Amino acid sequence: MKVTVVGAGAVGASCAEYIAIKDFASEVVLVDIKEGFAEGKAMDLMQTASLNGFDTKITGVTSDYSKTVGSDICVITSGIPRKPGMTREELIGINAGIVKSVSASLIEQSPNTIIIVVSNPMDTMTYLVHKTTGLPKNRIIGMGGALDSARFKYRLAEAVGAPISDVDGMVIGGHSDTGMVPLTRLATRNSVPVSHLISDDRLNQVKEDTKVGGATLTKLLGTSAWYAPGAAVSGLVQAIACDQKKMFPCSTFLEGEYGLNDLCIGVPVILGKNGIESIVEIELNDAEKAHMQESAAGVSKTNALLEL
Ligand code: LAC
Repeated sequence: MKVTVVGAGAVGASCAEYIAIKDFASEVVLVDIKEGFAEGKAMDLMQTASLNGFDTKITGVTSDYSKTVGSDICVITSGIPRKPGMTREELIGINAGIVKSVSASLIEQSPNTIIIVVSNPMDTMTYLVHKTTGLPKNRIIGMGGALDSARFKYRLAEAVGAPISDVDGMVIGGHSDTGMVPLTRLATRNSVPVSHLISDDRLNQVKEDTKVGGATLTKLLGTSAWYAPGAAVSGLVQAIACDQKKMFPCSTFLEGEYGLNDLCIGVPVILGKNGIESIVEIELNDAEKAHMQESAAGVSKTNALLEL
């Protein structure tokens, strides 16, 4: 199992680190345009191998895509991250060009690869890869919902006063401050609906805090977060690499599912060796459906800015 991660910045390096620590891949190749940077990150990470107990071989290259040949999974994290006060959508101008050329270079070396898109605005970048590469839709996956759901569980556990492993919940919709749809109605603590445990106001606060999860961190850190994004990507990569058939909300191209068409947006999918093996359609109530429609309208508006 060979995994390429493009972009050796904080998110890319965290991805490589978590993939290595889970020790299921034989090889991770880090690629960056900054001379020596990916080599340096790879060497630093390799020097943790004996300490952290993994055998995954991590190498780094400066824009030399020939070294990515035959990758089973490629993760695209390249592009500029957002700064405090910026929305993810504002990054489209620069990141669209980068994601388009990176995905073409990756596919040239690895025509059978599965691509995971992390660069923002993520749903639009996933759509761009769909529109420009000709890869089948099961092999193009946008990472957002897995991260947003982890942030949702963090907030749920805090509100309920429970350990995080006791709570479960999922965020669907667009990976943006207004587009996320945290499914509070379906969130549980050990099968008990969370709505039975905390007030509507508190649950609403959890929802609002989840939606600005990334923005809150951007304000605190001065740049976009990396630990949870990296860990979320590693979970998707592992589900595919180990053919786990696990369910994650991921951005995928929709053709009528959830009443939506011609966009990529977060919905529950099953991940296995073929990438997205199926899309799971869950019954939403009227408010959730309306929120999903609104979210989709936002994503489509950003997609319209692409020069395809
Ligand atoms: C975040 C970025 C990765 O939400 O979109 O932290």
